[in-house]
Amino acid sequence: MGDLDVMPQAKAQGVRIACPARGPQVGVKEGLVARSLEARGPQVGVKEGLVARSLEARQFAYCPYSSFRVGAALLTPDGSVFTGCNVENSCHNLGVCAERNAISKAVSEGYRNFKAIAIASDLQDQFISPCGGCRQFMSEFGTDWEVYMSKPDGSFLETRVKDLLPLSFGPEDLKMKKETPKEF
Ligand code: THU
Repeated sequence: MGDLDVMPQAKAQGVRIACPARGPQVGVKEGLVARSLEARGPQVGVKEGLVARSLEARQFAYCPYSSFRVGAALLTPDGSVFTGCNVENSCHNLGVCAERNAISKAVSEGYRNFKAIAIASDLQDQFISPCGGCRQFMSEFGTDWEVYMSKPDGSFLETRVKDLLPLSFGPEDLKMKKETPKEF
């Protein structure tokens, strides 16, 4: 696990107090600006940093059957980063995707909220797109967080879980009113 500090990025945007006598005092303004930046998701340097971590994570891919390396890097609200790679198996259906490995690592260390996930592969001309299973896996932990789909040159497409999986089925659906079949 490594660190990517979100708040210094927010502070680096520069906050000027034009007239402290009028309106909220110094700390209040900084706090509000930092919170509004936070609400918009990770800032520029953080996104690139996360993509770089996902590109690095590819190196550990265990993919003797597909030769298709995937890396992922997951950012938590406190700035922690969990990486993952795909891990295949001779019993093919047991293979696990990079995104799911990164998310499972984080969940198993107590994290259930995420800010963003970056995904990397070796595809030169395409932004790697997460598989349907990984989209569902991500949506278990909220649908309003960011996904960066990258190319090996570090460029990336930015989207959100809810846009990758519209009309999704999630934990809330299990709590909805339902009929009780006789056999229950
Ligand atoms: N793979 C991932 O790790 N993530 C995805 O979202 C797409 C596919 C892996 C699974 C398998 O090991 C290899 O890529 C080829 O499908």
